[in-house]
This record gives sequence, structure tokens and C-alpha cells, in this order.
Amino acid sequence: DTGKSGYDHYMLKEIHEQPTALRQCLRGRVDELAGEITLTELSELDHDGPIQFVACGTSYHAALHAATVCRERGLHANAYVASEYAADRIPVGPETLVIGVTQSGETADTLRALREANRAGARTIGVTNTVGSSATRVCDDVLYIRAGPEIGVAATKTFASQQIALTLLAGQLNGGLSYDAIEALRSVPDQVQTVLDTSRAKTVAEELVGSDAFLFIGRGLAYPVALEGALKFKEITYEHAEGFAAGELKHGPLALVTDETPVFAVVTGDGETARKTISNIKEVEARNAPVVVVTDGCSEAERYADYVLEIPETDDIGAAVVANVQLQLVSYWVANRMGRSIDKPRNLAKSVTVD
Ligand code: G6P
Repeated sequence: DTGKSGYDHYMLKEIHEQPTALRQCLRGRVDELAGEITLTELSELDHDGPIQFVACGTSYHAALHAATVCRERGLHANAYVASEYAADRIPVGPETLVIGVTQSGETADTLRALREANRAGARTIGVTNTVGSSATRVCDDVLYIRAGPEIGVAATKTFASQQIALTLLAGQLNGGLSYDAIEALRSVPDQVQTVLDTSRAKTVAEELVGSDAFLFIGRGLAYPVALEGALKFKEITYEHAEGFAAGELKHGPLALVTDETPVFAVVTGDGETARKTISNIKEVEARNAPVVVVTDGCSEAERYADYVLEIPETDDIGAAVVANVQLQLVSYWVANRMGRSIDKPRNLAKSVTVD
């Protein structure tokens, strides 16, 4: 199949397209010197009320990322699973900005939440990959993630592009990003390339395939990465995989931990967040779980790890994008080893247009 450019699956091809997809997403939108973000689609964006992100599946994990980035910058933001948006009775009105994150622009639950927000008088923005999709018509404004077409049912490059596009949007909502933050964003495509060129994920996958269950932990911006790592894993391997906030491990999931349940821990930087995750790593290591750390060289974390998946050093936003690439590769190689239908997993659809 020439469409796969020599890769065995669209998923692997799309994982490898990420540096290009991210460069496309950033092109013309960041000015390093001025610290400015220019999202020309969204010219007049001064908003100081609450911000709500709504999405499903992988896009929900990008929404969690976005809400955290907004809050780190002092904005009042939350992320909601679109199918729960109405049931949760989330207050929404003309003062609210509702941002629907949807790769396809056709997910019924997300469109419904956006229509509801419109009815309540909120301003709506659709963050999508698909020109002319329903989300572009339902929303007041549109921000394109520019990832290019994604064929694999399990989202990969579109997630990375959502993380970056939403970070830019958070920056624009907050009057720009710092020089350092912009410089970090601009190095993400090269760092993803480094991971693609050097990853040991295939070896790790071969060692761990056949385990009872696979757990993923992270905190802060690494928490959505843990959730996404687990979702990708279960989607394409059909194995039991769960993602947790690292601090929640001791409140239940620890009961699952044995020497047959590998734990993937995303731990980057050297601050308080990393220190706390390391103490969670010790808890699972003491129960003989095989520990895989995805880290930018945190030697303390590596000390407790059976396997290390290295990423280049960057800030917490860049790390969330790059660390996720390591987890995509682990999922891919485990699924490949198990002979799964990687591009079209059983029971799943690329876009879910019913609710
Ligand atoms: C389906 C796909 C997922 C996707 C979700 C939301 O379940 O299988 O990969 O994350 O829909 O799709 P959207 O197009 O709204 O991002």
C-alpha cells in the first residue's frame, strides 16, 4: 500500500509524521523575539471569563492538557468530557468561552455540547483538523491544528498537534507566552524527531508483552499523558491498561500492582512534581512491578526503573508532547507483536457521529 510510504501501518507512519505535523501547526503562529502568538483565525480574542474545554477520547486528554496550561497562566479553565457536559450541569452563559476539541469535527457528543453552549450565549471555538467539518459550522470561530489527514483509527499525530495548538491558544488568551516558552515550543518538532530516531520502545515492548495489565502514571501535565498512554495501549493491544494521577495510586490502584503489571511513569523536570512522582514509583517498585520511566534524565527516577525511555530536556509542555511519543511507540510495538489490527481496532470507529 503506497499510502503507507513503506511503513507497515498508517499508525506508525503517522507517528513518524509528527515532526512535520508540529512544524505545520507552529508555522507563522509564533514570534520568538516579540513573545507573541498570532492565531490569525482568532483575531479579537480578549476574554476574561471562565474557559471550558469539551471533547471526547484522545481529544479530551488534549483538553485536559489545555486546561492545565491555562490554569498555570492564571486563567480560569476546566476540561469536560463532552458526553457528561449536560449531565454535569456545568454553568455556561455569555461570559463563558467554550472550546470544543475535535480532530474530525464530527463527534456527536462534542457537537451537542457546543450547540448547548451556543444556545446559552457562550462564545464557541472549534479546534479541529478538518476543514469544512460540522464543528467549523457550529462554532463562532475555528482554530485548525493542521496535522494533515490521519487514517489510523487511534489518534497519534493529531493529539500532538492538539497539544501544541491548544498551548498556542492558551498563550493567546493570556496575552502571549514567554520567550523561554516559545523557544521550548519551537524545539518540540526536533525533539520528537530525536525520540523517533533513538527510542528503545520496541525493546521495552518485547520485554513486557504478555503481562497481566499495564498501568500509566503521571502528575501535572504528565497526567493527561498517562491517560492518553493507557487509552492508546488498550485501543490497539486490547490489553487491560489504565492511566492514573500518580497520587491516586495509593487510593486503590495499588491493589492491582504485582510483578506482572508494568507501570509506566512519566517524570520530567527536577521540581516538586517530579519528586512526588518518584515517591509513587518507589511504591510500585517495592511491590516488584516492572517500572518503565519516561524521563528527561532524572537520575533519581532512573535509579528505580527497570527500563528508561529517554526524552530530551525541555519544559513541562514540551515534555508532555515528547513523552507521549515514547508511549505511542510502546503501544504500537506491543500491538504489532500481538498481531493486532492496528489501524482498525475491533469495535472502534475513527469518528463517532452518534451519541
Ligand atoms: C473516536 C476515536 C478517537 C477519538 C474520539 C474523538 O472515539 O476513535 O480516537 O479521540 O473519537 O474524536 P474527535 O474527532 O472528536 O477528536
